[in-house]
Amino acid sequence: MNNKEPVNIAFFDSKPYDIAFFTEANKNFLYNIEFLEPNLNRKTAVLAKGAQVVCAFVNDKLDKETLDILYNEGIRLVVMRCAGYNNVDLEAAYGKITILRVPAYSPYSVAEFALAALLSLTRKIPQAFNRTRNGNFQLSGLTGRDLHGRVCGVIGTGKIGKIFAELMKGFGMEILLYDKFPDEAWAKEKGFRYTDLDELFTKSDFISLHCPLTPESRHIINGESLKKMKNDCVLINTGRGALIDAKALVEALKDKQIGGAALDVYEEEEEYFYEDWSTEVIKDDVLARLLMMPNVLISSHQAFLTTEALTAIANTTLNNVKAYIEGKPLENQVCFKCSNN
Ligand code: NAI
Repeated sequence: MNNKEPVNIAFFDSKPYDIAFFTEANKNFLYNIEFLEPNLNRKTAVLAKGAQVVCAFVNDKLDKETLDILYNEGIRLVVMRCAGYNNVDLEAAYGKITILRVPAYSPYSVAEFALAALLSLTRKIPQAFNRTRNGNFQLSGLTGRDLHGRVCGVIGTGKIGKIFAELMKGFGMEILLYDKFPDEAWAKEKGFRYTDLDELFTKSDFISLHCPLTPESRHIINGESLKKMKNDCVLINTGRGALIDAKALVEALKDKQIGGAALDVYEEEEEYFYEDWSTEVIKDDVLARLLMMPNVLISSHQAFLTTEALTAIANTTLNNVKAYIEGKPLENQVCFKCSNN
């Protein structure tokens, strides 16, 4: 690929908002973007035929087989239009296909959504909305809790976790932090404290997850950790679904071991999230059970979905393509042997 030939981008899992924001951003790049509806996986990878670049998202499955098919179709560059890349087999891509991502767009979009989900759940706003729409103006059953004076645990204090912690501080909460690589200087400046997971689990009234999904963080919330939490502790997950063992969460909620959960991501979300299942039977019993619980709020991986974030995602993704074509340094590369992963 060079910067004189036309560049064809096969854009998988495209939704109306992707098309709108990428079409606008592409006015400055003029690539040929083919917006494809299907998710990218080993069955659909052949649709990339004729393209030089593939653009993929969080629920596309870039396993070895998919990457091999893309490679055989001549794809040498995959641009992820998201921050996380846990769905890419970096080892299989290594030496064959370059993977670029959008490490930061608007961390505020996700942190603010986590806050909105927490307040919606603790103040029972969805129930209140449904009641008043039906002409029911009663308050029984809608008693909430103040955030002020409570303890908030934040797991993962990178770009998003830091903003979330600072927002929580604004409510007058005590903040407990856990990170594999603590930023002590920032914590000291803000008056926050890093601790171990045990203390965070036992002392927090609210726990929000903002770390990436890695083999180490997979099921960081499991049967054991749920047992340690306060009976009214509320979990918020805008990170990745598999940070929580969803089956264990259902049991903990049934046994009233914890108070509730606001989930923007779900362990087995690929089949359901971003699609309309309203006229179908949901076969995933864990998801169906969670959807029925009054103290669970599920959204469909939408924390990133703001105008600011979508604009930044489109611009960075297309700039990533440009940097690759022009042979510039690839700041946003993730790879099997890269130190910035
Ligand atoms: P970041 O890379 O700035 O921060 C991640 C933090 O997690 C770092 O401080 C890192 O040291 C820490 N960490 C890594 N492994 C850990 C472990 N095992 N235990 C505890 N902490 C660990 O990432 P950023 O931008 O703050 O995003 C965090 C995550 O949020 C992303 O990885 C992604 O999965 C998720 N996300 C979700 C979105 C949504 O729409 N729901 C949108 C964007 C990101």
